[in-house]
Amino acid sequence: MTKPSKKQEGDPNTTGHVWDGIEEFDNPMPRWWLYTLYACIIWAVLYSIAYPAWPMVNKATAGVLGWSTRADVANEIAAAEEANAAINTELETVELASIAGNPELNGYATSAGSAVFKTWCAQCHGSGAAGFKGYPNLLDDNWLWGGDIEAIHTTITHGIRNEDSDDARYSEMPAFGRDELLEDEEIDQVVNYVMSLSGEPMDASKVAAGTEVFADNCASCHAEDGTGDREQGAPNLTDAIWLYGGDHETLTETVYNARYGVMPAWNTRLTEAQIRAVSIYVHQLGGGE
Ligand code: HEC
Ligand code: HEC
Repeated sequence: MTKPSKKQEGDPNTTGHVWDGIEEFDNPMPRWWLYTLYACIIWAVLYSIAYPAWPMVNKATAGVLGWSTRADVANEIAAAEEANAAINTELETVELASIAGNPELNGYATSAGSAVFKTWCAQCHGSGAAGFKGYPNLLDDNWLWGGDIEAIHTTITHGIRNEDSDDARYSEMPAFGRDELLEDEEIDQVVNYVMSLSGEPMDASKVAAGTEVFADNCASCHAEDGTGDREQGAPNLTDAIWLYGGDHETLTETVYNARYGVMPAWNTRLTEAQIRAVSIYVHQLGGGE
C-alpha cells in the first residue's frame, strides 16, 4: 500500500525516493560547498600539471616546475659537501698523527667518523663497536693488527684478507686437523695448554705435552709465550679476550679448521677524508694507542 505524500505547501520538490515513509528533498547544494568543490578540482588539475603526479610505465609525469624530492636531497648533500669541503681537504692532507692535537679538526673527524661507522661498520662490529664472535671489539686496548692511528688507518684503508686490495693485511693460520698436520690427541693437548695460558680450568695432565706441540707449531705466529704477533694478526692467547671463544670446544674447532676473518677494503668505497675520520673515531673509542 502506498502512503499519501506528506509534502506540504511550500516544501521543496522531492526526488521521489522514499524510505519508510521518509521522503528525500531535492534541495540544491549549498553554494559555498559547490564553489569549494570546483576550487579543489581546479587546484588538482593545476597541481598535476606543475608537480610530478601521474604514474606512467617507468616513472610519474615530471611536472612543469621540474621539482623532485630526489633533486632536493641531492642539492642538500651538495650544499653540505661544499660547506665541509675546506675542512675535508685539511683532514686529508695534514699529518695523520697531528689530527688529535687539533681540537677543531679532531672534533669534526670524530663526529663525521661516527656517522661513517654507523653506516659502514656497525653491521659487523656492532653499533657500539663492541663486536661479535669473529668481529673484534674496537673499544678495548686489545689489537690484532695494531692500535696506533697509523695502524688503524692502514687496517681500514686496505682491509684484512680480502680480494679487493693487494695491500690488505694478510696471514693464514694452518688448519691443523683438517690438513692432518696434528693428531687429534695433539690438538687436545695444545688446546689444554692454550687454556692454561689464560688461567682457564683445564686438564693439567695434558699441559706438558701441549707446551711442546705449541712450541713446534704455534709459537712462530703466536710467540713463544703465546702473546701473539701483530705483524701477522695472530691474537694474544694469554689475555682471556677471545675473538672466537676460549672454551675447549671452540678452541678445538679453531685449531682443527683454523679461522679466516675477512674485512673489506674501504679505499674503494670511502674517501680518504672519510677513512681518516673513521680512523680517528675508532682510535678515540677507548683503546687507541
Ligand atoms: C664485513 C664485516 C666487516 C665490516 C663491514 C667492517 N669490518 Fe672491521 N673487521 C672485520 C673482521 C672480521 C675483522 C677481524 C679480522 C681478523 O680476524 O683479523 C675486522 C677488524 C677490524 C680492525 C682491526 C682490529 C684490530 O684489533 O686490529 C679495525 C680497526 C676495523 N675492523 C675497523 C673497521 C671499520 C672502521 C669499519 C667501517 C669502515 C669496519 N671495520 C667494517 C669485519 C668487518
Ligand atoms: C701462520 C701463523 C699461525 C700459526 C702457525 C698458528 N696460528 Fe693461531 N692464529 C693465527 C691467526 C692469523 C689467527 C687469527 C685468525 C683470524 O682472526 O681469522 C689465529 C687465531 C688463533 C686462535 C683464535 C683466538 C681467539 O681469540 O679466538 C687460536 C685459539 C689459535 N690461533 C691457536 C693456535 C694454536 C694452538 C696454534 C698451533 C697449533 C696456532 N694457533 C698456530 C695465526 C697462526
